[in-house]
Amino acid sequence: MKLQPITPFLGIEVHDADLRKPVADDDFATLREALNQHSVLLFRDQTLSEAEHVAFSRRFGPLLTHVLAQFLKPGFPEIYVLSNVVDGGKPIGNHKEGWNWHSDLSYKAEPCLGSLLYAIETPPEGADTLFASMYAAFDALDDDTRDFIRPLRGVHSYSSYYGKAFADRTPLSSEQKAAVPDITHPLVRTHPETGRLSLYVGEDVVSGIEGMEGPEGQVLLARLNAHAVDSRFVYRHVWQPGDLLIWDNRSTMHRATPYDDVKYRRVMHRTTVAGDRPF
Ligand code: OGA
Ligand code: MN
Repeated sequence: MKLQPITPFLGIEVHDADLRKPVADDDFATLREALNQHSVLLFRDQTLSEAEHVAFSRRFGPLLTHVLAQFLKPGFPEIYVLSNVVDGGKPIGNHKEGWNWHSDLSYKAEPCLGSLLYAIETPPEGADTLFASMYAAFDALDDDTRDFIRPLRGVHSYSSYYGKAFADRTPLSSEQKAAVPDITHPLVRTHPETGRLSLYVGEDVVSGIEGMEGPEGQVLLARLNAHAVDSRFVYRHVWQPGDLLIWDNRSTMHRATPYDDVKYRRVMHRTTVAGDRPF
């Protein structure tokens, strides 16, 4: 294995790794440390079966299944499919998932540690994924802002996200809503392994700041969200089939970008590693 930085603030490309085979424990420890420090790992030219993708993902911890059960890969409930492909009248995956800045499952009391997204079919243009370092975004805040936001908590709401992102779809049922109630998380979170602080916000999923009802909370939130994804902190990933990308949801945000979904097919498989309560 050879590790090469992608940008100074985020990302490591791992060369000479074949993830079909079990990764030795000391190599895996190196990968975990690289993920903790650099937030994103890229492996190109992989040829993974669903079972191999799941097995490698499990090394990082227990896997979660997504609330939208209709988009789970048949036979592999750990795999959440992102796709525009319709097969026999039925979408094989969720389309337009993550087309806004977010950290995965932040609307849960215990959001996920990381996600492993494997590219099966990718359009020749568009559909890049953007990653922003929330370590770098926090470090770049001025001292007054850091002190001011340190005790504050954001309200994370899946209903708010769903209503904005999927306004054209059937609204969530009351059962689905009950499964994902609004919750709060600190705006500044501590990475449980590195101890570093990062900004924890989100574009549509964070509906407000606890105790700051009215315009003042919304203004602060908009300012933090804009700062968080300043181009200084952002890496654009241009996908190739066979790419496996792992990101640390405890220190990054990401978003998908559009593509010509009439002309091109996109099929991506995601696994999601359980995490703990942000503090
Ligand atoms: C995700 C996600 C973005 C993309 O898989 O969690 O947000 O570009 N994906 O598919
Ligand atoms: Mn996502």
